[in-house]
Amino acid sequence: MKPVRKLKRLNKRADFSNGLNVAILASGNGSNFESLVKTTKEKKIKVNIKLLITDKRGAFARKRARRLGVKDIFINPKEFKSRLEFDKKIVKLLHKEEIELVALAGYMRIISPYFVKSFKNKILNIHPALLPCFKGATAIKDAYEYGCKVTGVTVHFVDEKVDHGPIILQEPLKIDSGLTLSKLEEKIHKIEHRLYPEALRLLSKGKLKIRGRNVKII
Ligand code: GRF
Repeated sequence: MKPVRKLKRLNKRADFSNGLNVAILASGNGSNFESLVKTTKEKKIKVNIKLLITDKRGAFARKRARRLGVKDIFINPKEFKSRLEFDKKIVKLLHKEEIELVALAGYMRIISPYFVKSFKNKILNIHPALLPCFKGATAIKDAYEYGCKVTGVTVHFVDEKVDHGPIILQEPLKIDSGLTLSKLEEKIHKIEHRLYPEALRLLSKGKLKIRGRNVKII
């Protein structure tokens, strides 16, 4: 096994000009996974989406992976006695595949502090609301039912707390009166499919500088 390429620290303005090896973790539909694969290719963003990892055998994202020619691996959580053991297996796999960055895209598991530490500042997540509002798995519906006039999308680094790490990009979206929940979901996903590749582009160009909770775009 080749040694894992040593990462430069993000806050030292890393140069990933040779292409960053990325793994995407997803549990379901995988529309963000697909848009990341397609948009990074179309826009010639220097990332190499090498791998899709799923924790659900029947995840539709796996079908997309086969169609897109991305290696897809299903790891069955039921075969592990704890979340930590499961994450150890994933981290081992990520190292074996020489993965440098992990993008969560509808991954419905809370990742362990062990995983976060193993890829410190190298795990991203996308959330369909303006964090810190409406954390959790039903954010679009929650914002809608709360009667918000504005919601949006957040891309952030992952830390030990759920939907909490330093924010990279956010985009607001107005909820006009009469907008249905399904129309809102559609609009949110459209933003996601633009914002997540943009975050990857910035990262791949070494343009993100992390200072505590603050991510500077340089
Ligand atoms: C997205 O809304 C994302 O923000 C959230 O989970 C959803 C996944 O959708 N974390 P998809 O599987 O990428 O279509």
